[in-house]
Amino acid sequence: MIPPTFRDRVIAPSLLAADFSRIREEVTRTIKAGADWLHLDVMDGHFVDNISFGPAVIQAVHETNDIFLDVHLMISRPDHYLPRFVAAGADLITVHVEAGHDVAETLHRIRESGCKAGLAINPATPVEAAQPYLDQIDLLLCMTVVPGFGGQPFMEEVLPKIAAAAAWREKHELHYHIEVDGGIDAVTAAKCAQAGANVMVAGSSTYRAPDMAAAVRAIREA
Ligand code: DX5
Ligand code: ZN
Repeated sequence: MIPPTFRDRVIAPSLLAADFSRIREEVTRTIKAGADWLHLDVMDGHFVDNISFGPAVIQAVHETNDIFLDVHLMISRPDHYLPRFVAAGADLITVHVEAGHDVAETLHRIRESGCKAGLAINPATPVEAAQPYLDQIDLLLCMTVVPGFGGQPFMEEVLPKIAAAAAWREKHELHYHIEVDGGIDAVTAAKCAQAGANVMVAGSSTYRAPDMAAAVRAIREA
């Protein structure tokens, strides 16, 4: 498979919205629905006010399927836990700029481990906070909700930041993907794509849809 570029639309359903009592079937359903990546939200109850799952669950998914694993670490000290997510089979690891670590060093270690490196910024964090690292990443994640929970409404005010990140990419001839996460459906995906995002994370709007394949297709075509 040819790896996608920032000009390609990538749909990444978030497993957080799946039925945890049937994870294997849910991952199979995701692949059959035409998803490109599987987005895995790791929450520690400290960096965000929710606890989800860790490396053991990711490893179980990795062992039963070969879909690209997009691991979003909403945890403090991601540098400390990093090797466990690499060992679990992550393909891309995204860390938050706000998470209390040496960001450049962590990004370097992610790439050194053979994974793609992502950097996430919360809705309240200006794009300037990520700028020193934009030449060291494969993906910039602009959160479109305050991280912690699925099912929250999309924050329209993030759109100018996405456009600024896309403009910076062009000006500096960089190639990072721009991912959006939180409240994404066909309507909000169209706005994000217009602003310059290409990787669409979608939890509720895909897993809770009556027809997941149709929901994935609608986000792809939006
Ligand atoms: C939010 C997570 C998201 C979440 C998205 O903290 O990072 O990935 O699962 O869920 P929806 O698509 O339902 O907003
Ligand atoms: Zn996420």
